[in-house]
Amino acid sequence: MSETLSSRTHDEERQGEAYVSTGGEPRAHRKKFYIESYGCAMNFADSEIVASILDERGFGPTGNYLEADLVLLNTCSIREKAEQTVRNRLHLFRQVKRERPGMLIGVLGCMAERLKGKFLEEEKLVDLVVGPDAYRTLPGLIEEAESGQQGVNVLLSRDETYADISPVRLDSNGVTGFVSIMRGCNNMCSFCVVPFTRGRERSRDAASIVRECADLFERGYREVTLLGQNVDSYYFVDEAQDEIVTFAKLLEKVALIDPALRVRFSTSHPKDITDEVLHTMAKYDNICKYIHLPVQSGSTRVLQLMNRTYTREWYMAKVDRILEILPGCGISSDIIAGFCTETEEDHQDTLELMRYAKYDMSYMFFYSERPGTLAARRYQDDVPEEVKKRRLDEIVKLQNRLSLESNRRDIGKICTVLIEGDSKKSAADWRGRNSQNKVVVFPKGELGLQKGDYAQVRVEDCTGATLIGKVI
Ligand code: SAH
Ligand code: SF4
Ligand code: F3S
Repeated sequence: MSETLSSRTHDEERQGEAYVSTGGEPRAHRKKFYIESYGCAMNFADSEIVASILDERGFGPTGNYLEADLVLLNTCSIREKAEQTVRNRLHLFRQVKRERPGMLIGVLGCMAERLKGKFLEEEKLVDLVVGPDAYRTLPGLIEEAESGQQGVNVLLSRDETYADISPVRLDSNGVTGFVSIMRGCNNMCSFCVVPFTRGRERSRDAASIVRECADLFERGYREVTLLGQNVDSYYFVDEAQDEIVTFAKLLEKVALIDPALRVRFSTSHPKDITDEVLHTMAKYDNICKYIHLPVQSGSTRVLQLMNRTYTREWYMAKVDRILEILPGCGISSDIIAGFCTETEEDHQDTLELMRYAKYDMSYMFFYSERPGTLAARRYQDDVPEEVKKRRLDEIVKLQNRLSLESNRRDIGKICTVLIEGDSKKSAADWRGRNSQNKVVVFPKGELGLQKGDYAQVRVEDCTGATLIGKVI
């Protein structure tokens, strides 16, 4: 799962096209479910909540859909391509169902929410359609589906945070874990479908977040990533403690669990990240010095149409501020090429801002109009596809150069690496990440290090995506 998040090259995967299947240890379960997750980390985290709800009802995970009683697709609507990927997968599962009619197929997540009942008309043989706030009702809906009815619940909630549900970790490396701290989004970026599929923003009980992180630490995990669409607007009133918990406060509480537990978070909206958060990051060594700060566009005019509520200059000042309080902090971004009315000059503004921010990494996309969004209703999707693709290509090439330059600047430096597992290329090498979220690979040697250990590594070489070093 973290593989998709940590990819440091052009990555259509994190927010749309990636999936993992479950491969958990089979327990004494009566029935088996198989789940594929698409889209953002929050969707992956939701699949672990779903796994927990199903576990209580006697369903255990399987990595083989051919033996599953229940096949679930946790879907993403962020771009058209993400939805197309899911539709293709559904074709396959419908064929499997013809051979195994008892098998139930369920669509969860953002696409379920966006298409609601239409799914059942369009995609025959889908038995369940369940939106992101309705997972607690899954067991009842499964029973309905088992008796031949279709089970649908796409009600959004103002207060559901699944705070009390302890996620069943799927496909976990046992070292890094995601922890949801809020749900929904109140921003109305004009291109974005998320406010429609995930509903209003709400923050999860702070004590339950700290408990979940502490529990992960007890179980050997050494890194938690706090997740929300806009983590900096986290706000929880803890009446029992008579305390207002802001995001900075929450970060501190999690950092205090243990100095050996790393804390990351995603995503920060540039308009909301405060000095208080930056100072909290500076105060605790175990809060990673890395901020994902999506800019979307470098043109103030386009940013206005996107309803991002900041200007190009304001964003640049935010980057300056981050580096002033946190020298050497890693910064990454999301960029959309070819938004409505984008001119060549706007595009050049984006490239120039990328050079200014010297992003270590970016997720880059071309604009995909989403039905029902502000942009779809108000503006024409008027940048021709070949122009969008050419601009995206230029953005990707520039980012590849910036990533390589950023990595070259690290040669000779010593960094602390949390070991996540074997390197993809060789079992003789460890793979981990440094505080700035860069992937670091180094020889295991005879040092007796283990997954979940920290190593001090001197960087000796690099590619655009990886730092290569040696333990000192
Ligand atoms: N909450 C996060 C982003 C969630 S969506 C934030 O505000 O930063 C992840 C990314 O997908 C967005 O940052 C944006 O770059 C991209 N995206 C969203 N809608 C899109 C669309 N309609 N077309 C192309 N990319 C889109
Ligand atoms: Fe979408 Fe904007 Fe909310 Fe991010 S902040 S989820 S881009 S509406
Ligand atoms: Fe996709 Fe929904 Fe996440 S639309 S990016 S899965 S919030």
